[in-house]
Amino acid sequence: MSESGDQPAPAERLAKIMARHGLCSRREAEQWIRDGRVAVNGHKVMTPAFNVAASDEVTVDGAPLAPKRATRIWLYHKPAGLVVTEHDPEGRPTVFEKLAGEGLPRVLSVGRLDINTEGLLLLTNDGGLKRVLELPVTGWLRRYRVRAHGTVTQAQLDALKAGIEIEGIKYGSIEATLERVQGSNVWLLVGLREGKNREVKNVLGALGLEVNRLIRVSFGPFQLGDMPIGAVEVVRSR
Ligand code: URA
Repeated sequence: MSESGDQPAPAERLAKIMARHGLCSRREAEQWIRDGRVAVNGHKVMTPAFNVAASDEVTVDGAPLAPKRATRIWLYHKPAGLVVTEHDPEGRPTVFEKLAGEGLPRVLSVGRLDINTEGLLLLTNDGGLKRVLELPVTGWLRRYRVRAHGTVTQAQLDALKAGIEIEGIKYGSIEATLERVQGSNVWLLVGLREGKNREVKNVLGALGLEVNRLIRVSFGPFQLGDMPIGAVEVVRSR
């Protein structure tokens, strides 16, 4: 057996452990600690700057933490008009408020969609999985159906395969297909592997198009398919 195999798991921040058990967010855990609700091995802990090992017994309001839940993923058909954030400083409705009535455990979103973007949003109960799926190296293909005001040629869209720099931000290769013209709008299918802020709007904006409808139809192996708007589905396959 290797030496490292004999080492106990390293100690981790108390609030992180609490959040991982699906009880609360890390921020809430830090507040609960300051409120004196949390004890380690029977001793109240008042500061979030406290590390615990796997062998330590953590209690909240006297009750031990529940065992860690199995990792799960849900697909959500996000409607337009909801922000993807836990707390919106402007008080706009959030996806998490909307999902509160759906009988889900505490979930996190994998990445974000803008307030007016619709379509597939992945949810998970596992913060580690969320971080891995959000890493640029994971680079899952995201596909969007886009309606935009203006005109564009397929040749202009093909040039996006080489990447484009806009106001100092470098966007990677984008595959875009002109599907149809509808009055003064075009409908496009756009595929990209980065999740940069407002990527579709900014890149198409540089071609003179103004995006007025944006629907994510797939994220890696997951498809929006014919899920109704607002529906949530647990992923059953491994
Ligand atoms: N690109 C955008 O501009 N907005 C989104 O919500 C997603 C991709």
